[in-house]
Amino acid sequence: PPGRTITVRVNGVEHTTAIEDRDLLVDAIRKRLGLTGTHVGCYNGDCGACTITVNGKIVKSCLMLAASADGAEITTIEGFSGSRQLDEIQEAFWDKDGFQCGFCLPGHLFAARDLLAENPEPSEADIRQAISGNICRCTGYVNIVKSVQAAAQRRGSGQRPSAAA
Ligand code: FES
Repeated sequence: PPGRTITVRVNGVEHTTAIEDRDLLVDAIRKRLGLTGTHVGCYNGDCGACTITVNGKIVKSCLMLAASADGAEITTIEGFSGSRQLDEIQEAFWDKDGFQCGFCLPGHLFAARDLLAENPEPSEADIRQAISGNICRCTGYVNIVKSVQAAAQRRGSGQRPSAAA
């Protein structure tokens, strides 16, 4: 089949992998690199379950061809905190029961981090707008909003996850 090789840096580790020209980035990540924390809910750009960052920007990885990611720096949920510890956003979702089945959680975490980077003190409306591209079928979003608010507070206070009660 027509194909090529791409080299990407994923969660700090360089990977060179063979792909087919038509491969979506989400499928390359899941099937070729084996990083199955990035989920697929729709393949249409609607649900947000496949959200990752590419060169620091959040991207729905079902909307990008793997070939277009050649040379990119990618972060998936497996590398979200940069360590084996949860970061303060993950801790906040844990504390506030911001997820139930967890399928949409990776996308919500990336959306929350992206929001807080731009707007450290978001209103509820800001939060709802920021997560509007991420569909959750379980929670009704109330605890997701509380989680993002708690994450903003943790960041604002400089509280580290290890200090969280
Ligand atoms: Fe990509 Fe739904 S699988 S947005």
